[in-house]
Parts: sequence; structure tokens; C-alpha cells
Amino acid sequence: MYEQLSHSLLNDILNKIEPKIAKQDLRYFYTRLGANFYAIHSLFEKLYGGREDFEEQAQQLVETMAKQYISRPDKLRTLDIERELDYNWFLSQKWVGMTLYCNGFAGNLKGMRENLHYFQELGINLVHIMPILRCPEGKSDGGYAVSDFRKIDPRVGTLEDLENLSDDMQQRDILLTLDVVLNHTSDEHEWAKKARAGDKKYQDYFYTFGSRTVPDMFEQNMLEVFPETAPGNFTWNEEMQRWVMTVFNNYQWDLNYSNPAVFIEMLDVILYWANKGTDILRLDAVAFLWKKIGSTCQNEREAHLILQLLKDCCQVVAPGVLFIAEAIVAPLEVTKYFGEDAIIAKECEIAYNATYMALLWDAVATKNAKLLNQGIKNVPVKLERATWLNYARCHDDIGLGFDDKDIALAGYEPANHRKFLIDYYSGKFEDSHARGVLFGENEKTGDARISGTLASLVGLQYAIETGDPVATESSIKLILLFHSMILSFGGIPLLYYGDEIGTINDNSYVNDPIKASDSRWVHRHVIDWEKAELRHTSGTVEYSIFTALKRMIAVHKETGIFADFNNRDLIEVENPHLFVFERYDINRVSERVLVVANFDGKSQNLDLDSLVSWGAPHYGQLVDLYTGQRPEIFKNTLVVPGFSFYWLYEM
Ligand code: GLC
Ligand code: GLC
Repeated sequence: MYEQLSHSLLNDILNKIEPKIAKQDLRYFYTRLGANFYAIHSLFEKLYGGREDFEEQAQQLVETMAKQYISRPDKLRTLDIERELDYNWFLSQKWVGMTLYCNGFAGNLKGMRENLHYFQELGINLVHIMPILRCPEGKSDGGYAVSDFRKIDPRVGTLEDLENLSDDMQQRDILLTLDVVLNHTSDEHEWAKKARAGDKKYQDYFYTFGSRTVPDMFEQNMLEVFPETAPGNFTWNEEMQRWVMTVFNNYQWDLNYSNPAVFIEMLDVILYWANKGTDILRLDAVAFLWKKIGSTCQNEREAHLILQLLKDCCQVVAPGVLFIAEAIVAPLEVTKYFGEDAIIAKECEIAYNATYMALLWDAVATKNAKLLNQGIKNVPVKLERATWLNYARCHDDIGLGFDDKDIALAGYEPANHRKFLIDYYSGKFEDSHARGVLFGENEKTGDARISGTLASLVGLQYAIETGDPVATESSIKLILLFHSMILSFGGIPLLYYGDEIGTINDNSYVNDPIKASDSRWVHRHVIDWEKAELRHTSGTVEYSIFTALKRMIAVHKETGIFADFNNRDLIEVENPHLFVFERYDINRVSERVLVVANFDGKSQNLDLDSLVSWGAPHYGQLVDLYTGQRPEIFKNTLVVPGFSFYWLYEM
């Protein structure tokens, strides 16, 4: 019955818009629209069906898709068809990513083109360029307070530069990832300006209120994202004489997705960047998309419906384009961003694996894998055709987002353990070589997060300051151990620019009044290319890290077992310092890799007989894929040197 309704609505809509688009070849568009329209209609109806203008809005939605399909360049349409045929293409182990700031990495987009060889040298073939759109000076949140969703910041270049870069990247088989900041605009965005000037249509693009009544109701359950610099979730706007919802900074106005016009505008933005040659779109802050009084306004059911609808519409126009969900939320919640009810991914194909990231930092600080083992067990198995983005750190702070229950099960008292981690990474804890800076300290909750580069957090900065060769060696090992974990876990490994040469903290942000209160700038540096050159000079720190990573990436790409088909089994072992798991080939069960990581500085033993299927007589045939050597095995005991790892393959 419902399908008939959606069919007749679609016919109606097409009859109305046909004259405008009749001359175009819309064969694939119609096939895909037909296949997806039932879902699109149901979702759109669920979200906006109660409105009087529902049909008008539905027509607007279809028109937006048709227009964007018509402007999709032929070569991207061809790519769409190739990817539809080879639909698991992104699950391959061949993709290795890096996130970077365009200006920090290469000055501007032209500079990026000139430096593409650097990615190829290391083996990177997916590049996430952090936001490059226009933002007001001084109120940019590092690019996440956008004042025009279609204009590139002139300091990094032009649209033509981006298109040239995307062409070059495509020729080199490097995927381009760009951000779409879905949840909010800058207060300087045209929509916000019109709202301020009293235009009711645009006030309805945001959440604005004449009094404190509704904001106060919201505040009872909402959390604070930036408690130090932007407490509360609403900002008074003098000009408009209204309160505006500003969950992040007070100059970032939350978009109102209960208004279908907002949904359609943002879908249009997504498709616009898809048509500029973006392979993957990183959807920022997706957990926040739906606001409901009485809830934390995170992970609401409707936020998922919005993402499903975006995905369905994108599948009609640009099916080769993938979405990354940036949802730094609890494990049970994260996997829902792949698409809760679907067998195949129906929201975002990729999601940040923040749980694994935070757990790895716990293992480094505690020198054991107790919480890591415990926490990983709680990450639900994800859907088919969905994959993780595994990372050691990114441009944001590191949040200690573990479950208190897990901390207790790992044998710690939760509050004390969190305090220990904060003290450890800020270097307060005795024996800690970490040089982190706290972020988002919340006096009310005692909470804090951590900023700092990977190298500074694992002790390389300390080692350089003190000239301690043993500390230098340990920190390099930890950097490599970290990467061995994100490369072997299953999912797309995402490096952070500068980590491949051991970049340490850049404290200069404290002298910039705009940045001083946001410690995340300590790890948002400008690459020192002279230092990067040292990657060619044997004996330097840069050389040690870069060449090892390059090898690790090459081995990773050659090892089909590392592709992500949910083909991983965690193996709990007695030795608490070790983290052990097995990756296997889904087709040939006999082929497998045993991953063993030692988070302690001293050598640790692993009783191979305790692994049942890995014990004698197999152990004699084990080879470490990374070094190509046989590991040290004494009797049936595998010896794992301090801060190191094995990727063991049975010959
Ligand atoms: C893209 C990728 C390529 C992949 C293909 C799948 O063209 O660059 O490596 O195999 O999509 O169709
Ligand atoms: C995302 C970004 C972060 C930004 C926030 C608000 O979490 O990663 O850098 O501050 O969104 O846009």
C-alpha cells in the first residue's frame, strides 16, 4: 500500500519537473531513483510528513537530486558505475590514509599538488584535507565554522586549484576526502545574517528562542562540548534579541534539521562537493544532528534517519561517494552510524574508531592491555560493507571515552584511573615522559581531554629535551607499535600528518590570542620540510620512523588478510602486557596472521601452547611479515621484545 503511495508521488513529481530536465540522459538517475525512492519517501515522510508543505518539499528534494545528477561530470559517473560493480572496493587493505591541514602541509592547494609524491613515497593513497572553506578570521574553529559552504578560503586557493588537485590525485589513484560541516554554520553565514536581520524564514534554519524558557529546558539534559571556552549551549544575540542554540562555540549556530529546507540545502552541499571529485565526505559532528528537549541531543533516532536519507539520496546521484561518520561516542552508539537496521551499510560506510584509539592510549600509559582487551570486547560487530577508520590521533583532542564498567572490570577504580591517565599524559605523573596539554577541563565534572602530538605524548619530546638515547629509542618503538595496531586491526588506517617524521608539539599557539585558549593547536603544526628531508638520512629519528612506517604500510597493502571483512578474533592471553588477535582469510580459513603487541618496555613471553591452534607443531613455521624474520621462540614460548609487535604468518 505504502509503495503505491510513493510510486504515485514520484510520478507526480517527475511529471512536474520533467519539462525542465527532459533533454538530459537520465537513464541511471531514473534506475537509481526508482530503486531508492520507497526508502527516500518513507524517511522523508517520517521526518517531515506532518507538514502542510510536505509534497512541495518532496518535489524540491527530487529536483535537487536531478539537478546535481545532471551536473555530475561524465568521468565521475563512469567511476560511480565501476564502484557499483566492485562494491566492496573500499574494504580492501590497499587504502592507507593521512589527515592534514592544507596550509600546514603545503601552504595551499597548489602546494598540495606539488607534494603528492610525498604520499606515494610513504604509501598513502587516501588524503583527508581538513576544512578549506571560508570561515571568519578569528572565529573559525579550525575550519569548522563555515561562512559559505561553496567557497574555498582564498588563502588556500580556488575551486579550480581544488579541481586540478582532485584530477591529479585521481591519476595517481589517491582518494580525496573533504569535510562537510553538517551540524552548524558560522554566525557570519548568509543564513545567520538574514536570521539576525529578522528574516523569519532563516530564523527557522536555526534554533532561536525569544526567552530562556525553552533553552533552560534543553540545558537540563545537554552536555557541554567546550566547557572552558564556550559553556552552555545557547548564546544571546543582541541584534536579533533572541537566544540561538550554539552547542560548540558561541559563533557556531546549530542548524535546525526539523526544517526540511535545511535538509535539502545541506544535501545540495554534499552533492556539490561530490561533483567536484571528492571520493569520500567526512560528515562532521553527526551525533548532534537532532535536538530534542529531555535528551542529551546526541545520537537521537532522527539523527540516524537524516543520515540514512542523505545516504539514499547520495546513492541516487553519486553512488561512488562514501561517507565517514565523525561520531566520537560510546561503542554501542558508534556502530549505529553504519546503519542500524540495514544488513548492508545504509548510513555512513566508514566511522572513526575512537574507542580503539582511546584504548590504545590507555595501554601505552598503563603498559598493559587489560582495559584494551576489556573495552574491545564491547565494540559490537559491525555490519558488512562498513569499515573503521583506525587512528592514533587526529586534529582533535583525545577523549578518555571508556565505560566506567570496563575500567572496573579491568581492575581499576574509574575516577582514579581517569585521573591517572590525565596526570600521565600531562606529564604530572612521576616517571611519565608524556608532554600533553589538557583540553576541555570541566571543573564541574573533573573531566579533561588531552592534546599533543603522538611523538610528544609517547616521550620523544622528553627524549630530545634530555638527550636521552634510551628514551629516544623507546619513543620511536611506541610510535611504530601504535601504527602497527592501526594498520593490522581491520579498517582504513588514518595517519596524522607529521607523525611519520616524529613531529613534536608546537607551543607557538599560546602567543596567538585567537588560538591560545584552544590547546588542540599544539598539534596542528606547519610541517618543517627540512626536518622531513632527514627521512633520507640514516641514523636520524625521522629516518627511523619514516622508513619503518613505509615498510609497514607496504607489507600491510600486500597482505589480503588485513582487508576488513570482520575477520578478526581477539585472543585473551594470561600475560597482561600483551594484546593479541588473529586475522584470517574469509575464503581460505587456513591462512591467518597472529598479531601480538607488547605494551611493556621489557620483553614479555607468550606461551604459544596456550593459544591452542597456534601452538606446536606450528610455531616452527612462524614468520614475522614486517621484518621477514622468524621470531624468537624458546621451547614453546614466544619472546616479544619491549614496546614491539609481531605480525606472524604461518609459512
Ligand atoms: C576507484 C579506485 C580504485 C578502485 C575502484 C573501484 O577507482 O581508485 O582503486 O578499484 O574505485 O571501482
Ligand atoms: C568536530 C571537529 C572539531 C570541531 C567540531 C565542531 O568534532 O572534528 O574539530 O571543533 O566538530 O565543528
